[in-house]
Amino acid sequence: MSGPILVFDSGVGGLSVVVAIRRHLPEAALAYLCDNAMLPYGTKPDAWLVARIADVCCAAVAASNASALVIACNTASTLALRELRMRLSIPVIGTVPAIKPAAMATRSDTFGLLATSATVRRPYTERLIQDFAAHCRVIRVAADSLVTQAERKLRGLAVDRGEMNRELTPFWTAAELDTVVLGCTHFPLLRDELNACAPRPVTWIDSGDAIARRVAQVITGIAPAGGVEFAWSSAPDPALAKVLEAYGFASLQSLRASSLPLSLD
Ligand code: DGL
Repeated sequence: MSGPILVFDSGVGGLSVVVAIRRHLPEAALAYLCDNAMLPYGTKPDAWLVARIADVCCAAVAASNASALVIACNTASTLALRELRMRLSIPVIGTVPAIKPAAMATRSDTFGLLATSATVRRPYTERLIQDFAAHCRVIRVAADSLVTQAERKLRGLAVDRGEMNRELTPFWTAAELDTVVLGCTHFPLLRDELNACAPRPVTWIDSGDAIARRVAQVITGIAPAGGVEFAWSSAPDPALAKVLEAYGFASLQSLRASSLPLSLD
């Protein structure tokens, strides 16, 4: 095993997972891939997304010689893990909403699920709720606009608190809600803003540490750190390059896109 662990998301959300992986595996070399040309994923049709995610990930795995692929995106994982595992021979680690930990953490059996509109309605998510939280009241909020807010925040642009407050309102009407699952990897990047919006203390649960622990279990020989950690994007974006640099990915390259389906047709 020689290449880096490739972390994939539609945008900057996977960086919240990168932070957790680095905490658990400080020696591992990482690479980052984002499909920024097609962000956000949460509002795209399922069948199109499966083909797109498989094409982008397979191209980047080949380009990076990755030893493992982390799908640091709930919207992609709840849909495309099967396809990716069929097409790739390296380990593929997914991200799914932390329903089970939330069901264990809530003391009122009432928790929220904050995710993209795709993740909120997926059968995969429904099964998680049936299997681990059937005894709980789960308040689901589809908040695609928070993906944009997180993208803005990391680029140094203003976050719209009014918009965030509007998205989160359904949680606060349930007086007994004490826990919220951050079912999109972009959302832990807004933790300070989420706390500021909350009228009472709530526990926000994301999947970052669980994914990092899973990566550590799956990786048998850690790729050595050192040298430049590369990143790939599907569209050029100088502001994104700066964000990735701040997270230790010194060089943003354009993924060769000739074979990738770039439109929704
Ligand atoms: N970060 C992705 C997730 O965890 C969603 C972003 C998007 O909608 O593209 O679901």
